[in-house]
Amino acid sequence: TVVGVTCVPFSGGQPKGGVDDGPIEMVRFGILDQIQDMGYSVELSEGMDKYRSMKPASDLPIGKMKNPRYVSMAARRVSDQVKAHCEQGRMAVTLGGDHSIAMGTLTGSSMVYKDMCVIWVDAHADINTPETTDSGNLHGCPLSFLLGLCKSEAPFDWIEPCLRADRLVYIGLRDVDPGEKAILRKHGIKAFSMHDVDKHGIGKVVEMALDHVNKDRSLPIHMSFDVDALDPSVAPATGTPVRGGLTFREGHYICEAVAETGCLVALDLVEVNPALGDPESLRQTVAVGCSLVRCSLGESLL
Ligand code: ARG
Ligand code: MN
Ligand code: MN
Ligand code: MN
Repeated sequence: TVVGVTCVPFSGGQPKGGVDDGPIEMVRFGILDQIQDMGYSVELSEGMDKYRSMKPASDLPIGKMKNPRYVSMAARRVSDQVKAHCEQGRMAVTLGGDHSIAMGTLTGSSMVYKDMCVIWVDAHADINTPETTDSGNLHGCPLSFLLGLCKSEAPFDWIEPCLRADRLVYIGLRDVDPGEKAILRKHGIKAFSMHDVDKHGIGKVVEMALDHVNKDRSLPIHMSFDVDALDPSVAPATGTPVRGGLTFREGHYICEAVAETGCLVALDLVEVNPALGDPESLRQTVAVGCSLVRCSLGESLL
């Protein structure tokens, strides 16, 4: 099997610098060699340097949305790269970058896998619309575009609603804005919060999540993993940490169980920010990010 890796050094979906160095730090840590050592060949998308140079000279807010043109251009490029990997039958692995790039990863994979389901592992729901967002940071909004919850307007009019509300499931939520809660309720979107993880245990939660979106384990799965789903003691170097998160093992268990389905076609690992915290926090967060990627590719399956 071939793994198609797309590195997206992009931070325009939120205000903190450094998350654009997430991919290079994971590459320095050896993620590409590690994937090859598992027996895969790696096909790397070209021109990762181009993301930074796409930044428009002027990018005034549109309503509350910050950096809308930059986010849109970057996500559109990501969607082309992920789509190309999927078309070639490669497992598409995208290393971010902030979570706004999921507008692109999910658009790209869904063009090839029309019936795919999505497992979103995150402390946050990232489903604000341009109207409901308080922060204006687009990394808190990708799912509203993908589900078609906001009107199709420039510069995001290239995004086709490509995801059904009943094919999306969350694991790890613990910081959901009031407007987001209303959206989840209105559309009946299934979410397993940290409360559910405590109550049922991670094994049962993952089983229930898979049962919800993929009863027969027959549909392609795109997993979008925000490293802030993990507890800040496990993954400290991230822009919007929230205490009370997944343990090291709970995070890995999710990846292992998804790998075990044999249905995974695309994976995002986002929000690693090497600029935040001391060198040890950085090393720990980069290491755990790489480890989650390997587990999702089946490393710990016997
Ligand atoms: N809900 C908050 C917002 O919309 C935080 C979003 C954090 N998202 C993330 N991908 N880390 O601004
Ligand atoms: Mn998050
Ligand atoms: Mn909030
Ligand atoms: Mn996120």
